Amino acid sequence: MKFFLDSASLQELRAAAAWGIIDGVTTNPSLIAKEGVPVDEQVRKICDLIDGDVSAEVISPSSKEMIVEGRRLAKIHKNIVVKIPLIAEGVKALHALSKEGIRVNVTLCFSAAQALIAAKAGAYIVSPFVGRVDDMGLSGVEMVRDILTIYRNYAFPTQVLAASCRGPLHVIEVAKAGAHIVTLPYKVLEQMFHHPLTEKGLEQFLSDHRKAFDLVSA
Ligand code: E4P
Repeated sequence: MKFFLDSASLQELRAAAAWGIIDGVTTNPSLIAKEGVPVDEQVRKICDLIDGDVSAEVISPSSKEMIVEGRRLAKIHKNIVVKIPLIAEGVKALHALSKEGIRVNVTLCFSAAQALIAAKAGAYIVSPFVGRVDDMGLSGVEMVRDILTIYRNYAFPTQVLAASCRGPLHVIEVAKAGAHIVTLPYKVLEQMFHHPLTEKGLEQFLSDHRKAFDLVSA
């Protein structure tokens, strides 16, 4: 399973990269806005930090403009994956860009039906939003499971990227389902390290060791 960081913060990316477990990055217009740096400039910096797929999202409303914007973003770096929203205009742009060999991550996916359209139109990645589906009182993990079943039934090469993950449990559930990629906010990645018994156990080991050897050397 690939781990992507769901962040445009260079500070968070540097910290996560040091753990050696980050395979790529997802950004979106909100995350870019938080950094206050234009998308082209920020994703170029991200590509210099992380050697893996880096999703950069278009902000144009029409397919024609999305295609122009997608071509521009794809030229920034070989690792850029153009992110396009799952709307009718977006699917037209996806079809055109994928025919040119530009890799597209189809975002804002909230149903298996939408994911089927994305795969048919040539998406490299589809991003179902697990947490936001849960917010509607439905199961985001079930949606991911359905998408994976459909893709397997027809051997679609589109990778399923579980997005909008709100905690370690989401990560475990989508991993059990077999999602190819999960994108994690830095906070969720940090939460995955922690277990009270690890912390308690380490404290005990070090205290036992100190008691035995500090006494001997004193
Ligand atoms: C990733 O590609 C998405 O942009 C992101 O996971 C959305 O997460 P949110 O629902 O927490 O904003």
